[in-house]
Amino acid sequence: MGFSIGTTGAGLGPRGALDRFSDKVEGKVFNLEVVLRLLIYVRPYWFQMTVSVLLLLISSALVLTIPYLVKIAIDQSIAQHDLDSLSRVTMWMLGAFSGLYLTSLGQQYLLSWIGQRVLANLRNEMFRHLQSLSLGYHDTRIVGVTLSRVISDVAVINELLAEGLVTLVGDTLLLIGIVVTMLSMSPRLALLTFSVLPLMLLVTILFARRATAAFRQTRARIAAVVGDLAEGLSGIRVIQAFAQEDASRTQFDAVNRENRDAYIEAMSLSYIFLPSVEFLGMVATAIVLLFGGLFVIRGSLTIGVVVAFLAYVSRFFQPIQELSQLYTTMQAAMAGGERVLNLLDTVPDVLDSPDAIECPPIAGRIELKNVSFAYLSEPVLHNINLVIEAGQTVALVGPTGAGKTSIANLVARFYEAAEGAVLIDDHNIKQIRQHSLRSQMGLVPQDPFLFSGTIADNIRFGRPEANDNQVKEAADLANALEFIEAKPNGFQTEILEGGVNLSLGQRQLVCIARAVLADPRILILDEATASVDTMTEVLIQEALVQLLRGRTAIIIAHRLSTIQHADQICVLDSGSIVEMGKHEELLARKGLYYTLHAS
Ligand code: CTP
Ligand code: MG
Repeated sequence: MGFSIGTTGAGLGPRGALDRFSDKVEGKVFNLEVVLRLLIYVRPYWFQMTVSVLLLLISSALVLTIPYLVKIAIDQSIAQHDLDSLSRVTMWMLGAFSGLYLTSLGQQYLLSWIGQRVLANLRNEMFRHLQSLSLGYHDTRIVGVTLSRVISDVAVINELLAEGLVTLVGDTLLLIGIVVTMLSMSPRLALLTFSVLPLMLLVTILFARRATAAFRQTRARIAAVVGDLAEGLSGIRVIQAFAQEDASRTQFDAVNRENRDAYIEAMSLSYIFLPSVEFLGMVATAIVLLFGGLFVIRGSLTIGVVVAFLAYVSRFFQPIQELSQLYTTMQAAMAGGERVLNLLDTVPDVLDSPDAIECPPIAGRIELKNVSFAYLSEPVLHNINLVIEAGQTVALVGPTGAGKTSIANLVARFYEAAEGAVLIDDHNIKQIRQHSLRSQMGLVPQDPFLFSGTIADNIRFGRPEANDNQVKEAADLANALEFIEAKPNGFQTEILEGGVNLSLGQRQLVCIARAVLADPRILILDEATASVDTMTEVLIQEALVQLLRGRTAIIIAHRLSTIQHADQICVLDSGSIVEMGKHEELLARKGLYYTLHAS
């Protein structure tokens, strides 16, 4: 559904079209496929569900019984001056009240018990699935929108389960029960009372139609608010650095205001609708009083029936209100369900072939054979051929955007090559289970990412069972020990989200230590661009010598000094390998490498 950000003109810039915030869904009120598939999540709790529906039936029946008991008390016990019968009926009534209390309590408890379990299971499954989706998926999604899938779309499904079901089953039965009881008590008075129903129907239809659209707007806009908030927060540094708080605030304000207005509009519809229904209820009450009273005066009806009718009429309009609101809940839940299922149905781009093997301990030979690759449509790598023998170190160099990280991404199988093959020890990488491959591969990414937790936790990340000594050893090998021990809390220093309280160079050292500890056969090191001072660079270089011993390594270097000892240097330009050889050979050739080196 497309809509523009409005009149503020703040929709320009990197956080532009709101279209990115909303998925296309069908927006039906009832979508059998969605319902059936969501029911699978309820199935484990079928017993509790059955009990809950039974309790619901009992409580609806009890609601029906109570006015009937009042009628008996008035018409039989009181009218006949029969005290015995009166106390009996009163006892029945008390019994019915207690029963109603207990059954609705139990039923509500059970439903939220089931609902919360379904909710948690669904969220778990979504989280698992999001983890299995390849980077290609996450690249093209906005984190905030994915967040709102997992949080709000799942919540609205739960709402349908917890409230919608009660309304649908309980209220429908109640309505039918009331109609039948009223008709059997006094068909005349019942039909007179029902004369307001056509008006009621009209109001309800009018409301449901408008409300559906209005509530759909609120949902689309809340996703935009979450999306904008998430991006505004993760980009806070840049926003502050460029003093763009005002622009960012204006943009958020716009999105927020749209959400507010959509919500107010939706709610005001309810505010008009609910009192209208109540008003019609009053009219019905007046009809009962007037005509019921008339019939009583004429002697054709008992007072008990009139009193029971009054009670039924007051009960009658509440289910109608609830049922009409159910319409919007259902629609929201169907849309939410559709989006959740769409997410769960997304097939990862990188899939193990069915006959993929558990990778045996590898020697570490890597071969790229005629590999071409594109992230989206634009080709990024062209016909790459590269062999790295086990234990060798190959350096990838080249101007920015040449495709160095992309090659690393393919070897780590974060993405799948469109053409050609990546071989590890002569196995096509597609024939190896991703997990077993990556557990033998270490990666130090270009933007070193640290989790919140201690430094030790972060180093231990790839090998949680490592003891403190091993962690320390790894830090030592990575040349990170010195700076860690200089911290007041040493290895127990708490790292903030994303590692912001360490310098970039320190983050990279911690990431190297993490890779050392995992002891991979293949190591990929994507050097952060010019992020480290000469001192740290020397540290990293020394660490590398240790780290690379006996492993296959791909080193992506921006400072050519780091890689002079590589077995092979591979020079990339615009997605193609343009030169290959050792440092001296390449220098002598006076090609791109020479130029890069000179600069
Ligand atoms: N690219 C892309 N989608 C991505 C990542 C990269 O389309 N998710 C494109 C980039 O625009 C670039 C090309 O792929 O044109 C190669 O990117 P990359 O391999 O990351 O380049 P590097 O050689 O690693 O560049 P740098 O030295 O800046 O790290
Ligand atoms: Mg790169």
